[in-house]
Amino acid sequence: MNAYQKIGLVSTGEMFAEALGGGYALPAYNFINMEQLQAVVQASLRSRSPVILQVSKNIRRYAGPELVRSMVKGALDIVRQSPNPVPVALNLDHGDSFELCVSCIEDGFSSVMIDGSALPFEENIALTRRVVDHAHAREVAVEGELGVLSGVEDDLAHEEALYTDPEAAEEFVRRTGVDSLAVSIGNAHGIVKFRSRETGVQAPLRLDILEEIERRLPGFPIVLHGASQLPVRFVELINEYGGRIETYAGIPEEQVRQAVRGAVCKVNIASDAYLVFTATVRKMLSENPGNFDPRKYLGPARDALIEEYIRKNREVFGSAGRA
Ligand code: 13P
Repeated sequence: MNAYQKIGLVSTGEMFAEALGGGYALPAYNFINMEQLQAVVQASLRSRSPVILQVSKNIRRYAGPELVRSMVKGALDIVRQSPNPVPVALNLDHGDSFELCVSCIEDGFSSVMIDGSALPFEENIALTRRVVDHAHAREVAVEGELGVLSGVEDDLAHEEALYTDPEAAEEFVRRTGVDSLAVSIGNAHGIVKFRSRETGVQAPLRLDILEEIERRLPGFPIVLHGASQLPVRFVELINEYGGRIETYAGIPEEQVRQAVRGAVCKVNIASDAYLVFTATVRKMLSENPGNFDPRKYLGPARDALIEEYIRKNREVFGSAGRA
């Protein structure tokens, strides 16, 4: 038994095979605090959905690797002790160096992403291959990325997006040996999705590129980052209770569903959790000005996030009831 199996994690490889066979996608939810982690666990258990927990470099720095490790271990204990456990994997999101990937593997992650997408093609291949060799020797899966996503995530920011070239994707997968590939097809990090900044209109996902990638890499797991749908009601709630979010555009749910019907078997979500959390905290603080107990606004934020994740698992990813 390897390090991650000992704490109750499963490999993403097994999960991808099931998701591709079953025509659904695995939700990959980033968490940045205890309540968000609790929301992922409760939503997954209540909707009977397999799930990938995601940790970014920044949250590892913000909370400290020790605390992240212990939080995940605690979450896994809760899952294991439940009457109906669900499969859980742990992935490093947007690893930017070989050393960071090694450190996460030592911490017991069952999967790491190495994001060399901003590098020249050959350098991306060399870095990714190096991580794959190290990770596979320890039975850890690796996600690579090809094509540059626009938008902002933590300290990653790209103004311009570059669509993934399907032919290059085929070569990249063959030469690196990655287990899954994150692609750029009009998805974008943050709350302003692809191109809306310039045109005011959102460009749809390029499902034709996705189809071509699938044709060249049949049955290969494709990952959709930057896929938050930004439900309007949460943005409206933020603005109603003193916030000011003027420009935002999510990926319409129907487009995410279409991508999932294609080769996408993992969908990353971070911004939606931020929105749900901020909207609920603003509302609770505003409606209860005399309250000074953080549990009275963080608890409701956690509950709202549980409901939103259950809804996504059921209505968007199709992962509910698959565990
Ligand atoms: P969103 O900003 O759309 O939630 O994307 C998050 C993400 O892709 C994390 O890797």
